[in-house]
Amino acid sequence: MGTAAEQTPLITTVKVDSALRRQYHHRVTRRFFTLSFTSVLFWLSLLFFATFTFVPRPKSWPGCGHGRSKVDYEELRQLLLDTPDSKKAEEWQRYYTAGPHLAGKNYSQALWTKEKWEEFGVKSHIVDYEVYINYPIEHRLALLEKEGKKDDSTSDNWKVSFEATLEEDILDEDPSTSLPERVPVFHGYSASGNVTAPVVYVNYGTYQDFDDLLKANVSLSGKIAIARYGLIFRGLKLKRAQELGMVGVILYSDPGDDGEMTEEKGHAPYPEGPARQPSSVQRGSMQFLSIAPGDPTTPGYPSKPGVPRAPVDGAIPSIPSIPISYAEAVPILKALNGHGPKASDFNKWWTRRTGLGYKGVDYNIGPTPDDVVVNLYNQQEYVTTPLWNVIGVINGTIPDEVIVVGNHRDAWIAGGAGDPNSGSAVLNEVIRSFGEALRLGWKPLRTIVFASWDGEEYGLLGSTEWVEEYLPWLSHANVAYLNIDVGVRGKVFSASAAPLLNSIIYAATAAVESPDHPGHSILEKNWDKKISTMGSGSDFTAFQDFAGIPSLDVGFNAGEDDPVYHYHSNYDSFYWMKTYGDPGFVYHRTMAQIFGLLIAELVDLPVLAFSAESYATALDKYVSQVEDKLDSALHPPKEINISALTEQEISNLRGNHFNSTANAVASSTSSNKKAALAFRDSLKRLHDSVGKLTEKAARLDAEAEDLRSQAREHIPWYHWHQKLKLWFQIRKVNTKYKYIERNFLFSEGLDGRPWFKHVVFAPGLWTGYSGAVFPGLVESIDARDWTNAERWVDIIDACVGNAARKL
Ligand SMILES: *[C@@H]1O[C@H](CO)[C@@H](O)[C@H](O)[C@H]1NC(C)=O
Ligand SMILES: *[C@@H]1O[C@H](CO)[C@@H](O)[C@H](O)[C@H]1NC(C)=O
Ligand SMILES: *[C@@H]1O[C@H](CO)[C@@H](O)[C@H](O)[C@H]1NC(C)=O
Ligand SMILES: *[C@@H]1O[C@H](CO)[C@@H](O)[C@H](O)[C@H]1NC(C)=O
Ligand SMILES: *[C@@H]1O[C@H](CO)[C@@H](O)[C@H](O)[C@H]1NC(C)=O
Ligand SMILES: *[C@@H]1O[C@H](CO)[C@@H](O)[C@H](O)[C@H]1NC(C)=O
Ligand SMILES: [Zn+2]
Repeated sequence: MGTAAEQTPLITTVKVDSALRRQYHHRVTRRFFTLSFTSVLFWLSLLFFATFTFVPRPKSWPGCGHGRSKVDYEELRQLLLDTPDSKKAEEWQRYYTAGPHLAGKNYSQALWTKEKWEEFGVKSHIVDYEVYINYPIEHRLALLEKEGKKDDSTSDNWKVSFEATLEEDILDEDPSTSLPERVPVFHGYSASGNVTAPVVYVNYGTYQDFDDLLKANVSLSGKIAIARYGLIFRGLKLKRAQELGMVGVILYSDPGDDGEMTEEKGHAPYPEGPARQPSSVQRGSMQFLSIAPGDPTTPGYPSKPGVPRAPVDGAIPSIPSIPISYAEAVPILKALNGHGPKASDFNKWWTRRTGLGYKGVDYNIGPTPDDVVVNLYNQQEYVTTPLWNVIGVINGTIPDEVIVVGNHRDAWIAGGAGDPNSGSAVLNEVIRSFGEALRLGWKPLRTIVFASWDGEEYGLLGSTEWVEEYLPWLSHANVAYLNIDVGVRGKVFSASAAPLLNSIIYAATAAVESPDHPGHSILEKNWDKKISTMGSGSDFTAFQDFAGIPSLDVGFNAGEDDPVYHYHSNYDSFYWMKTYGDPGFVYHRTMAQIFGLLIAELVDLPVLAFSAESYATALDKYVSQVEDKLDSALHPPKEINISALTEQEISNLRGNHFNSTANAVASSTSSNKKAALAFRDSLKRLHDSVGKLTEKAARLDAEAEDLRSQAREHIPWYHWHQKLKLWFQIRKVNTKYKYIERNFLFSEGLDGRPWFKHVVFAPGLWTGYSGAVFPGLVESIDARDWTNAERWVDIIDACVGNAARKL
């Protein structure tokens, strides 16, 4: 794996054999690196630019119409609100969900997307990579029981007591479910294998679930785990099982995790009603996402044809796994009845949301005795195969301020109406709206790069390889990355973002009407106004965590009262979306309006709509969170009120690798106590330096605000020198904003996962999704490694100090 500094030479030694790439690279180079600040031409063009095109652009500007935008900011916003159309979104959805589009399997969807974008008026091209991925060949899951006397160890009479179909039911109402070429149930990056062994129920398969099993002396080695989906990234469940010597993993979706929306609680299952279809299966990637995303054979550099490939050991599973439905999990879970302790003998983390009691499942841990075993057979074909990102560009007037906007196109299934193609339909509507503005003569201030990523589902492949390829350019010019994955699967707006971008999310959602509450905004009616931190789980990861580019991710989630969303299942289909998810596709339109406004805020306001103070304030809050975590590590609370915790908090609690046995031993020594207290003390230093950053950030924001009001005022053309001065001041403030986030990159990366460079945001090591902030500190606390914790205080302090100095 390479550090940031090493990547540049790697990239330039890559054999460049794609004409597209050459053209792109050449353009980038020409645009951004030959523009020298000392060049006379540059100064002249600045002068022209500043005087005639930039500062206030009243429509009635006397003379000199040439080069100026014919659509001002307010008109652009109105276009972005008026253009998106539910019928069109439905049309795009119908296209994308008509056939399978697994990573690397559907070039025609890439081509179609490119052609659509060009038709909308945005010049586009396809960028390809060659990635290492798997496709399913064959599988089997069966429960076997030995016939005859139990103590007859010589008997070889195994009876199949349950043979799983490993199929999702075909439903007459939903044509996606009967497509002959539909995608089998399987796991991305899963290992081939044929194992037969007793089975153990491991709850959610979090690190702490496995710790509970170890403490209870449940035998794990040589056994097959059955875990329910939820709380943490699925690949990390397998990672821990594998480390503990287990030989296979079965993952199922427990209806208990669907809350109130269950058959048991009186709701009919899909297609008759909103509850989970019992045969639905969640496919998904088993990559060890928290270690590094992207092609596992090219860590840190782009997967171009002919590049050297690293071995994949340690990056993807070595034991086989298979996903199943709850209908097919029931016979296996029932085979555990009466064997080993019960979930209820453990603790409240094990009885939470168990939903199959009414089907006769007692939730015993097991293992099953040696004469009751599961055969798990999984055959995968591994290939190195092309995948295709579609990249569309609208050139702005400021060459080195670029906004990247992306959604992935690939899906685990033929459908994918929620994940990801609700986002794809939204993105198409957004691009169509910007195309409309271009047609009317709009000249954007900043460049917009639109991306339709391929291979997200396997491990963020398309976006990660692209960021790795264009890292030098992105580091220099990329102002922000805006992501939309599942655009619509319900009515509850949700957002995660780098704090610099918080304010634009409030502004955009305040300006868009809620479909269910005419006269009220999304901000008022569809959102709890909470913005989560950035971790991983979608294509923003490489931008935020690797390149230090402030990113956001938005979508409409399913709330408690919304129909169950069949994540990564055949039932995430066009029919489901039209009938349950978003009848009339009105939330698609709403999402396009919000997303369009978010882009406009960043692209077309002279002063970047960033809030530096939000970032500094958030950092201070994060330091306090670390202190709280340290305090509860040193003085564990006697009782945790589980119903007062959010899913995210539960995920962080259960998904940490805190070892209570080691802690009990370590905490008893006085030198260890002293070191912990010294660490607690050094966190005060962080508060101090964040305090200094806050002061400077507030000053920068105030200066920006002042420039905003100056830019709104009319300056007559003969005061060109005043305009020029204002332009330089704005340029200076924008450059400071642009680079704030980069200060938080640490070139050596996080402990044991050098690809992740950001010291504030990373996926939780054992949760895989948005983790606790300051991963270096949090992981050191979990490991009770106070020396390392102090080391991270120094690293973070240096980053904060740098950021403050540069403001
Ligand atoms: C590619 O996608 C299109 C549109 O969804 C679909 O009609 C076609 O069957 C897919 N092609 C392949 C090879 O799966
Ligand atoms: C954007 O500008 C570059 C040169 O600066 C040019 O090569 C490219 O064709 C332009 N793209 C569009 C869509 O105008
Ligand atoms: C899997 O292994 C078992 C023996 O352990 C064998 O009977 C069975 O045929 C194998 N299955 C496949 C598909 O190779
Ligand atoms: C587990 O085994 C250890 C050592 O064999 C024993 O001390 C401990 O009491 C056992 N724990 C449980 C929960 O059975
Ligand atoms: C636990 O939290 C829930 C929800 O916040 C609250 O209603 C309940 O009273 C709390 N229980 C205890 C024992 O504090
Ligand atoms: C926890 O620490 C103890 C003592 O250091 C060690 O024996 C045990 O294996 C550790 N448990 C895990 C799950 O790592
Ligand atoms: Zn997705």
